[in-house]
Amino acid sequence: MRKPFVAGNWKMNTDNHSSVSLADEIASATFGIVSHGIHVAVIPPFVYLQAVTRVLSASNVAVGAQDVYHESNGAFTGEISASMLKDVGCVYVLCGHSERRHVIGETDELISKKVAAAIRGGLLPIFCVGELLAEREASQTTEVVTRQIRSGLAGLSAEKVSAVTIAYEPVWAIGTGLTASPQQAQEVHAMIRKLLGEMYDAQLADEIRILYGGSVKPGNAAELMCERDVDGLLVGGASLNANDFVAIIRAAV
Ligand code: PGA
Repeated sequence: MRKPFVAGNWKMNTDNHSSVSLADEIASATFGIVSHGIHVAVIPPFVYLQAVTRVLSASNVAVGAQDVYHESNGAFTGEISASMLKDVGCVYVLCGHSERRHVIGETDELISKKVAAAIRGGLLPIFCVGELLAEREASQTTEVVTRQIRSGLAGLSAEKVSAVTIAYEPVWAIGTGLTASPQQAQEVHAMIRKLLGEMYDAQLADEIRILYGGSVKPGNAAELMCERDVDGLLVGGASLNANDFVAIIRAAV
């Protein structure tokens, strides 16, 4: 049985005060829900990780980071390693988020190093994949997502990959208000699960969680979660509002 998982990616938002109050509101509002068998995480900016971890220490809400560097330490100005993230209480880390791929310019090869480094460092990667609008319109979704998955997980054993959560986030649906229909999401999720079965084995494919992300809101969360291969949600904008985020969590239970 795959336990539902809802993660809130705060991106480059919040400040010292609001990151703590948002985390606090989410922790209190989800106190009873999280025991129902759902995993919940918030993913604040690096600089607020420690403050947020402190606020959430007595809750069931885990903390993740938005990125990680693949080297463990040394002369890599501006970068943060997996052991540093672990040290401040992170459990999860996003790897290959579409904004890292398409705004910052991360390549499949770099993302693959980050996924491996995260696992090596004892973090649970949330590995993001998804096609651009032009790629969907050119019927290249399967090809693009297959390439991203094969490359991102290259060289990793089934045991290592069992630490990974996949997030399918069609780029055209992120922050645009356009959501993939539940059927569109299901189609790609099923394709990803089949691919993982071919790359590894049926058990891994059956157990790995695949989240959907892209303009998830309280109003569409439940219908997305009804799909057989949608195991959870990666929420951006709506995770910055405690009421909306909690409504999404409730819809996912
Ligand atoms: P959005 O972002 O919910 O604001 O579309 C999702 C994401 O980028 O993870």
